[in-house]
Amino acid sequence: MAKKKRTGPSPTDPVLPKAEIGEDAQMFPINEPREIKTLGILTGGGDSPAINSTVRSIVMEATARNWRVRGILEGWRGVLENNTRDLTRRDVVDTIHTGGTFLFTSRTNPRKREGGIPHVADMLRSKLCCDALIAVGGDDTLGVCNELCQAGYPAVGIPQTIDNDLSRTEYSIGFDTSVGIVGEAIDRLHTTARSHQRVMVVEVMGRDAGWIATIAGLAAGAHQVLIPEYPFDLEEVYRKVRERYAAGKHHCLIVIAEGAKPSGDLQSFQDDRTDEFGHGMLGGVGRILREFIEEKTGYESRDMSLGHLQRGGTPTVMDRVWAARFGSYAVEMVADRRWGRMVSTIGTEIVDVPLTHALGEPKPVPPELYELANKFNFD
Ligand code: F6P
Repeated sequence: MAKKKRTGPSPTDPVLPKAEIGEDAQMFPINEPREIKTLGILTGGGDSPAINSTVRSIVMEATARNWRVRGILEGWRGVLENNTRDLTRRDVVDTIHTGGTFLFTSRTNPRKREGGIPHVADMLRSKLCCDALIAVGGDDTLGVCNELCQAGYPAVGIPQTIDNDLSRTEYSIGFDTSVGIVGEAIDRLHTTARSHQRVMVVEVMGRDAGWIATIAGLAAGAHQVLIPEYPFDLEEVYRKVRERYAAGKHHCLIVIAEGAKPSGDLQSFQDDRTDEFGHGMLGGVGRILREFIEEKTGYESRDMSLGHLQRGGTPTVMDRVWAARFGSYAVEMVADRRWGRMVSTIGTEIVDVPLTHALGEPKPVPPELYELANKFNFD
């Protein structure tokens, strides 16, 4: 969808839902601010590199419009606890290349707290005095943002998740850096696996979709890639390892997403901890697979999980540029009062889509890409 400015009712009128909800329709009535004086920014959920680059861009663009910018600390928790700091251009100097989020983050789910979403809207208006909000995060954070809009509060979202699994956007901030870290790790694991003539199973992040495993695995010459979208057959994986060794190879590198599962089985969790959004702590499927392969083949094998290394450190140039563009575009969306929408990419173009369309089903790795990533068993 090409970017279009909304025309129609004046900014101070409540915008009523349209009979047909199309890409450009406002989806729910919003209590519009007369004018934007103070803009809130919040970063929530799992962090990733380039959030600071995004916040920097928002601050630069918003202050250029003479808006006051209020950084809300620790995600939705900061709204509930009225924990904020004002952000000026000075505060974002030298932040474009820094990892993490200097606004901090949390997995606070306001739906679980007293007053729920209406309370968040009320806090934003009356205590934090924010006329509008830009939320930066993945499906959980943007899910709350969407419900806030449904409750009449003016907000927009920016997609940020290393998992790159938000629907209706080809790209989410953080993915490029993360996939680069994983690609380099696989390169390194090849050399040690080759030296010891071992099977190496690498577990990477990817709760519902295997974008990191697929793209990094493809780029770094993994021999097999296993992801949540396509349950795998343990026997088939083992058979392919055997075939590879029978063809004269002496090491094998398998990349598996943490959310992948053997057919007919469940995902593996580290323990029974869950976060406020109900997500368990995934982990362990790599070990299960390594034990199975080692037992069946007798080949010396190792497993390792890359864990939070995938989310840390300096963002790539690509992530910084998307971050700068997303931040700038989101400020434009606020100025144009395109509420309830998320910044999104189609190729190199930036557009915006209704948050409702971006949430729900995670964006799956298409079968042809998955098949391609699994074509190199004899490499
Ligand atoms: O943000 C998504 C994600 O990266 C998942 O891939 C992973 O399961 C989860 O975060 C880990 O989150 P936490 O920081 O709570 O351990």
